[in-house]
Amino acid sequence: MKTLKINLKDSSYEIVIKNNLLDELPYYIEDFYHNKKVYVITDDIVADLYLEKVCNSLKKSYEVESVIIPHGEESKSLRVYEDICKKLLGFNIRRNELIIALGGGVVGDITGFVAGTIYRGVDFIQIPTTLLADLDSSIGGKTGIDFAGMKNVLGMFNQPKLVLIDPTVLKTLPKEEIVSGMGELIKHGFIHSPKLIGDLLSKAPIDEEIIYESLCCKKYFVENDVHDKSERMILNFGHTFGHVIELEKGYKHGYAVIIGMLMAMEYGIDLDITNNEVIGTLKRILNLYGIKYEYYDYKEYLNKIKFDKKNLAGEINFIFIEDIGKPVIHKIKEIEL
Ligand SMILES: NC(=O)c1ccc[n+]([C@@H]2O[C@H](COP(=O)([O-])OP(=O)(O)OC[C@H]3O[C@@H](n4cnc5c(N)ncnc54)[C@H](O)[C@@H]3O)[C@@H](O)[C@H]2O)c1
Ligand SMILES: [Zn+2]
Repeated sequence: MKTLKINLKDSSYEIVIKNNLLDELPYYIEDFYHNKKVYVITDDIVADLYLEKVCNSLKKSYEVESVIIPHGEESKSLRVYEDICKKLLGFNIRRNELIIALGGGVVGDITGFVAGTIYRGVDFIQIPTTLLADLDSSIGGKTGIDFAGMKNVLGMFNQPKLVLIDPTVLKTLPKEEIVSGMGELIKHGFIHSPKLIGDLLSKAPIDEEIIYESLCCKKYFVENDVHDKSERMILNFGHTFGHVIELEKGYKHGYAVIIGMLMAMEYGIDLDITNNEVIGTLKRILNLYGIKYEYYDYKEYLNKIKFDKKNLAGEINFIFIEDIGKPVIHKIKEIEL
C-alpha cells in the first residue's frame, strides 16, 4: 500500500493506492464519512465489470444507490449532467451525503461537476478505474463537461475528499486505454522524475510504485498552482503538438501526447534547449512497453499550433525539457513561427 497527501489551503486529501482495495472500501471512507447513504456514479462498461463488487463492499457499512451513464466522451454533456442530477434528487440525496465517482476521466469529470453544483456542493470521492484517471484526471480538482462543441468549457475546480486507487482493475482495461494513460505517465517522468524514468526503463509492470511516482509529479504541480495559472502549465509538455495531432488524426489523447513529446524534444534539440539523449530514452521506453509510434516532422506542425485557444496575444508558452526532470517554459512568438 502507498499513500500520499495533496496539501491544499482549504481542501487537503489523501490518495491511497492498494491492490484489491475495492473489497474494503468502508475501511477508508469511515474515517471521515458517518452518514448512512452513498451514491455511486459510473458508466455502463465499468458497471458490468465492477459495480457489483463495489456495492457489495460498500454495503458492509452503507446503503448504496447507483447511477449508470453511457461510456464515452459524449457523456460529458449537459444532458447527462441533467440525468444524473435528476436521479440523485429522485433518490433524495442530502447535502451532507457522499457521491462516489467510479470510472475513468469521463465519469470523474462529470461526477465532480455534479457534486460541486448539486445543493452548491456535496462531498465526493474518486475511485478511478483507468490508468489515465489513476495518475491524472482524478487528482487536481478539475471537473466539468463539454459544451457547444468545446471540451471542458463548463466546469469548476472541485477537489475530492479522497482518492482510492486499486491498480488490479487495470487488468481489464483495453490496450489503447493503457497506452493513453502511459502518455501522461511517461510525461510525468520526463518533466519531474528521473526515478520514474528509471523505473519505466527497468520495465517494471505498472504497479503501485509506478503509479505512486507518477502521482508525486502531479501532486507537485497541483500544490504549487492549484488553479492552473502558472507552473501547472508544465504538465502541458507534449500537449501543444499533441493537441494538433489528436484533432488531425483522431488519436486518443495520451497517444497524441506521446507523439507530441517526441516532436517537442526534436524541436528543443534543434533550438539547443534539449539534451539530445532524451529522445533515445523516450523511444526505448516506448519499445519496452510495445507502444508503436509514428514520426511527424515538427516543422510541418509549427504553423498549426498558433491557433490553439490558450495562446496569449500572439505568444505561445511552449514547454521544453532541458533534460529528464528539468522542464523549461519558453515564450515563442507567432511571428517566429
Ligand atoms: N480532470 C482532469 O484533470 C483531467 C485530466 C485528463 C483528462 N481528463 C478527461 O478525462 C477523460 C478521459 O478519461 P479516460 O481516458 O479515463 O477515458 P474514459 O473515462 O472514457 O474511459 C475509457 C474507456 O475505458 C472504459 N473503462 C474504464 N475503466 C475500465 C476498466 N477498469 N476496465 C475496462 N474498461 C474500463 C470506459 O468505460 C471507457 O469506455 C476526458 O474527458 C478528459 O477530458 C480530465
Ligand atoms: Zn493530457
